Amino acid sequence: MKTPVRSTIDPNIIPAAVEQLRKGELVAFPTETVYGLGADASNEKALQKLYNAKGRPTNHPVIVHLASAEQLNDWGAEISDYALVLAKQFWPGPLTLIVKKLPHVSNQVTGGQNTVGLRIPNHPIALSLLKEFGGGVAAPSANKYGRVSATSAEHVRQEFSDHIALIIDGGSCSIGIESTIIDTTGPLPKILRPGIISEEEIFHCLNLNQSSNLETKNQSTPIRVPGSDKIHYAPRTPLFVMDKGFIQALVSDQKSSLAILSFTAIDQLPQSFLKKYIQASTDPAKYAQELYHNLRVLDASGADKILVESTPHSRDWLAIADRLSRAASK
Ligand code: TXA
Ligand code: MG
Repeated sequence: MKTPVRSTIDPNIIPAAVEQLRKGELVAFPTETVYGLGADASNEKALQKLYNAKGRPTNHPVIVHLASAEQLNDWGAEISDYALVLAKQFWPGPLTLIVKKLPHVSNQVTGGQNTVGLRIPNHPIALSLLKEFGGGVAAPSANKYGRVSATSAEHVRQEFSDHIALIIDGGSCSIGIESTIIDTTGPLPKILRPGIISEEEIFHCLNLNQSSNLETKNQSTPIRVPGSDKIHYAPRTPLFVMDKGFIQALVSDQKSSLAILSFTAIDQLPQSFLKKYIQASTDPAKYAQELYHNLRVLDASGADKILVESTPHSRDWLAIADRLSRAASK
């Protein structure tokens, strides 16, 4: 049986979703970043179901989604002052704070670590679901482990077919890439995953003068972050990120069938070897919003390879470049 997809206009959708969560079932819901696959974060069986559905190793932690900052103290301990400042400034919003966990927070949520990731999403459906549910909802991105995140209800349905009790359709996600993750357990914040909220905004908010005050992710970090695995957000078709000149050369070569994502025009595209061509926006916010949808379309084209034009090196493109480099075949 196919998972029912229900839309926002249905007034019973939130109570129905809450009922499923209370029963220990999985509910997919929209957030402003990507769709989440939600489970009651206090229910071990529901969490097990979540890991099974995603095909995710159980030592990878999941983010607990909350309705209000007052719930921070239900999950986290010894929360630093600067974490509270960030929460106040950016919640609800695309920011996940890693804090020390309280003893009751299960190892299935934390991947066996002594920290927990918390986020209040800025999306009316997510917020009313969380508010009515009352507890924390563990929600990784609603995609199979390592694969492209879902930014529409249709993506979620394609990904999971019958694993989920309910998918709430809130249309396309407005941001399109996952939240910025900040480890706040040290004396200074440390960015574990770049996102739309930039390093610059974070240090500005905390009155830190230089970006060097802010620790950036160290590859040898013992913290397990699936988003920092080498391959992540990946289509099934091999994907290569390259400058336009290389794309142009491969296009002229005509050896294998191609699907191309560029943000500038590519000349003389041969129709025979070209399965799909998408010229994306030059605006990073719009590029990000459409990125996962575009990757799914290119993946479904049947091409031998996906070629993606390298994005600019400016800060605005940092989170996008991060996702593309992890989606790329090594
Ligand atoms: O925008 C988002 O963050 C979306 C929406 C649904 O909220 N969620 C999301 O979840 O991207 P997921 O599971 O796909 O990625 C969450 C990341 C993972 O890389 C995980 O390792 C990291 O958060 N994470 C969660 N708890 C952590 C912890 N205690 N310490 C370090 N990293 C943690
Ligand atoms: Mg994910």
